[in-house]
Amino acid sequence: MTSLIPRREGGERPRSGLKTGGDFPLLNQFAKMHGMNTELKIREAQLEDAPRLVEIYAPYITETAVSFEYEVPTVEEFQDRIKNVKQKYPYLVCEKDGVIVGYVYASAYSKREAYDWTAATSIYVDKNCRRMGVGSRLYAELEKRLKEQGVENLLAGVAYCEREDEYLTKDSFKFHTKEGYVTAGHLKDVGKKFDRYYDLLWMQKKI
Ligand SMILES: CC(C)(COP(=O)(O)OP(=O)(O)OC[C@H]1O[C@@H](n2cnc3c(N)ncnc32)[C@H](O)[C@@H]1OP(=O)(O)O)[C@@H](O)C(=O)NCCC(=O)NCCS
Repeated sequence: MTSLIPRREGGERPRSGLKTGGDFPLLNQFAKMHGMNTELKIREAQLEDAPRLVEIYAPYITETAVSFEYEVPTVEEFQDRIKNVKQKYPYLVCEKDGVIVGYVYASAYSKREAYDWTAATSIYVDKNCRRMGVGSRLYAELEKRLKEQGVENLLAGVAYCEREDEYLTKDSFKFHTKEGYVTAGHLKDVGKKFDRYYDLLWMQKKI
């Protein structure tokens, strides 16, 4: 992938898995001790992955306020989104036993040039595969690649409510905090879904 961002004075411009498994108990034990999940494989997303990615994303749209989208995108629309991201940023999926269980990508926070060292991150893990280390594996690989591109700041827009309800928990906030993100901005009542207002946290991490 080639960079679309030109170089400029005063710093390099941002340029734009582990595969194991099998029956190796000692290796698996070592991997677990060191926070590596040996059953997970990270690879770049392909357009053919879109149906599965939509499947993962859909319940977060229809059943939760995690995403501020109302309508589940079509596979074609989702493929366009993947194509757009991949022009400049990584778009990765995580497979467990050959099945995609989560995905992550980066996008521009703003198109203005001075933001070129900053990227927004988005991550979705199959709702039945959470707390298995998928999210942290995906973020680790995304960060590595963004760093190689010259990105220095990550921003995650996290839907948030002071009091959890049936549509929104603080899971994403807790996950991002564990991943080293800190709250940089708290926008109140900016998203309305299921007839309720939700906040948006901008959480930031320097890499
Ligand atoms: C948030 C999300 C990506 C986390 O992915 P995940 O694969 O479940 O996270 P991991 O298993 O890698 O968790 C890593 C660590 O983060 C923290 N964490 C993750 N989920 C948490 C939760 N629900 N409550 C508290 N801590 C949590 C824990 O410290 C965890 O380590 P541990 O399990 O050893 O305690 C996933 O839950 C998800 O897809 N949620 C819905 C979509 C979403 O909110 N996306 C973010 C939009 S900004």
